[in-house]
Amino acid sequence: MLRTDTPKAIHLKDYKPSPYQVSHIDLNFDIYDGYTNVTSVISMSNSADNKDDLFLHGEDVELLALKINGKTISTYKTDDQGLTIPCPSEKEFKLEIKTKITPESNTRLEGLYKSGDNYCTQCEAEGFRRITYYLDRPDIMATYTTRIEADKEKYPVLLSNGNKTDSGSAEGGKHFTIWQDPHPKPCYLFALVAGKFNHIHDTFTTVSGRKVDLYIYVRPGDEDQCAHAMESLKKSMKWDEDVYGLEYDLDLFNIVAVSDFNMGAMENKSLNIFNTALVLAAQETATDADFMRVESVIAHEYFHNWSGNRVTCRDWFQLSLKEGLTVFRDQEFSADLHSRPVQRIDDVTHLRRLQFAEDAGPLAHPIRPENYIEINNFYTMTVYEKGAEVIRMFRTILGAEAYRKATDLYFSRHDGDAATCDDWIKCMEDASGKDLTQFRLWYSQAGTPRVTFEGHYDPVKKIYSVELSQKIPDTPGQSGKKPMHIPVAIGLIDQNGNDLIDTKILHLTESQQAFTFENINSKPVPSVLRNFSAPVILSTNLTDDDYAFLTKHEVYDGFNRWEAGQYLHRKALEKLTGAFESGETKPDINQNYLESFADIYINALNTDITSDERALLARTMHLPDISTIVQSRENADPVAAYNARQYLLAAIKRTQKPLLQKIYKANEEKGAFSVTPDAIARRALRNEALSILTATHGTGCAKLAKEHYFAADNMTDRMAALMAIAPNANPEREEVLEDFYNRYKDFQLVIDKWFSVQASSVRPDIIAHLQNLRHHPDFNIKNPNRARSLYAAFAMNNPSSFHAQDSSGYSFLADAIIELNSINPQIAARLLTPMRDWRKYTLDRQTKMKAALERILETPNLSPDVFEITSKSLK
Ligand code: PHE
Ligand code: ZN
Repeated sequence: MLRTDTPKAIHLKDYKPSPYQVSHIDLNFDIYDGYTNVTSVISMSNSADNKDDLFLHGEDVELLALKINGKTISTYKTDDQGLTIPCPSEKEFKLEIKTKITPESNTRLEGLYKSGDNYCTQCEAEGFRRITYYLDRPDIMATYTTRIEADKEKYPVLLSNGNKTDSGSAEGGKHFTIWQDPHPKPCYLFALVAGKFNHIHDTFTTVSGRKVDLYIYVRPGDEDQCAHAMESLKKSMKWDEDVYGLEYDLDLFNIVAVSDFNMGAMENKSLNIFNTALVLAAQETATDADFMRVESVIAHEYFHNWSGNRVTCRDWFQLSLKEGLTVFRDQEFSADLHSRPVQRIDDVTHLRRLQFAEDAGPLAHPIRPENYIEINNFYTMTVYEKGAEVIRMFRTILGAEAYRKATDLYFSRHDGDAATCDDWIKCMEDASGKDLTQFRLWYSQAGTPRVTFEGHYDPVKKIYSVELSQKIPDTPGQSGKKPMHIPVAIGLIDQNGNDLIDTKILHLTESQQAFTFENINSKPVPSVLRNFSAPVILSTNLTDDDYAFLTKHEVYDGFNRWEAGQYLHRKALEKLTGAFESGETKPDINQNYLESFADIYINALNTDITSDERALLARTMHLPDISTIVQSRENADPVAAYNARQYLLAAIKRTQKPLLQKIYKANEEKGAFSVTPDAIARRALRNEALSILTATHGTGCAKLAKEHYFAADNMTDRMAALMAIAPNANPEREEVLEDFYNRYKDFQLVIDKWFSVQASSVRPDIIAHLQNLRHHPDFNIKNPNRARSLYAAFAMNNPSSFHAQDSSGYSFLADAIIELNSINPQIAARLLTPMRDWRKYTLDRQTKMKAALERILETPNLSPDVFEITSKSLK
């Protein structure tokens, strides 16, 4: 059926508290082959003056029985949204609901579903309504008792939230466990797991001396890949005590890894459920970047115990209250454990690549959106990553000490609450005495602010004067925006590389504003927006020489030292892209640019540089990717951007080959594999050199990549080799790809890499190749990791192929979205991301992308998820 109705949007301004409240819920899960019976006994109250019907959400559930205070009721209505019961006569009552669900056919992976042979749940945001009828909204908080009964043989492990209070055998070869969660929670934090798992166990003693049992449950055989996750968990628990004064509040903390999962992981109270990709990590199968991600996601979910669970969200418009804050917390955790500047570089690179693109496109929204059709569509880069930037700015504006006072206040004032972003801001104000009225605009205005900086030195008056201005671009539904409060951190560096002033925060609050620095005795080079103090797009009146100076002399702020280099890379790439767009084939490359980088890269050979500097150098050598180049262009041609990037890489290789070879050699691993910061930094640097040395994809490149591959004793190096060889047409490619497949065919997560490397690599016959992969026996569109490893890898990481002139890339993706629409709408909607900004590209591409979007919109039975993104993109 074609969608003739438009799914209804939900608006923040319509929020109303529920007249009905729940104090406790008793759940009973009876798991059978092919179906599960769920009984819930809900202790409810109705507010004194309310006469409205009681509406309970429910989707894909079959109602078997309904009682109030033990009496069967028959005057109810059900539809595809839920169950309506006339207002009960009592103000306090027990509602008993028996439902039947079929987890076996749940391909959306929301509610109770099967991953392989095991059962698990995913309830955020609105999955609980697929388990039973309930007030499925985060401001309804209750204590839970959960009884699970299932076959003992097939499902030896039965878990839910809280503490296990009982277990035993039941009839017919079954057994049961009972769980009690003493902390009131919204139903999105409910979780259940039933299956066959092995576990590892450890303990953590909290600051007040309570011993907590920690378990990680995985598929039997995967236990030996869990140690890193366990270490990460213990580090997270300690960090939250040290840095935020927050202690864990139960005696048990469980993590379960499942291989079918829509997102990264989920913070269900004391029973975190994880995508295997964010738990398992071993030298042989995980890259250094994977190790880092596992650590940060374990931390993220653990941190939610306070920022999300103890203090939760009143409604889903407040999502950034928990997500922005928790991302900021996990970023800082990683920065404390590893290199602070490198962490910042990686976070900002990610923000720019994906969030800036979102903020400039048809789905731009503030970190606190004002309306949505499908909440799953609002787990966005904006809510998460820009949300984290906004929390970071609070800390910058308040200072570290007042910020900590403010978070203490927040966690004590709102413990047990379903809170709002305004509650958070109020705590920031109350604890610091600062008026944050203007700063609040970050919650309501979308779009990345453009900030311009102009600095001038007056050698007579010894004054350095700065003029800052800001402009917030129009976004869908928002124009004529007000100036925001933007903290701009600035340093002034003299010709010898010394800081003339302490880093100063300039508070830009007007459209245009002047600042002066007195007693500046020599002409400084300014370092603007140190540590990326605000999520803005900056332009300055600095010269290329100034930036080249900063790449060497900005020693105080590693982020800005790297940023200066990125500026020069971007500039070179933009110029070359323009040249390729207008048909040039041999454009000139700025010699100063090449030489200034040779000067920087030579440092990679210093034996006495720190591991942080080494890691930073690796990032400096890395050219901005195509999607970043494309962002600053109108009517962009990703093929031209790709050609420009390849052309520049070839020039760097040609002019720096001996140096790159030395870097490659000097950073070879000596002795046994290790994951020390130094070893990680050396691998990063060496693999960056490898990627430039193999960028021209000739026979020599194939030979080097193959050698690198077979010499590797870890996944980081193997993947670097694989990425280097995948776009190479020489016979070594097949040899290496085949070896990789055979070596790792039993490791699902590594086979995901095998798919994604191929989908991400540029080759002439890419679509035919993708079709082969799609029909490969190991391909399974129902598994989100596998679907992403082919489709998202192609459309997001291979822009020049995805945007091939013949539109074959668009058709390939649109077919997948249409197929997934009926299997897993959440994943289908996500895959639309690279289609959303179709207006950015050349006119012929616009026509073709639009046609693909229109074809999607005409799909029968289009899900609200896909409908929302497609229709908003086309608007
Ligand atoms: N709340 C999870 C997190 O950020 C993300 C998530 C959302 C997972 C929805 C599953 C479903 O940690
Ligand atoms: Zn989160």
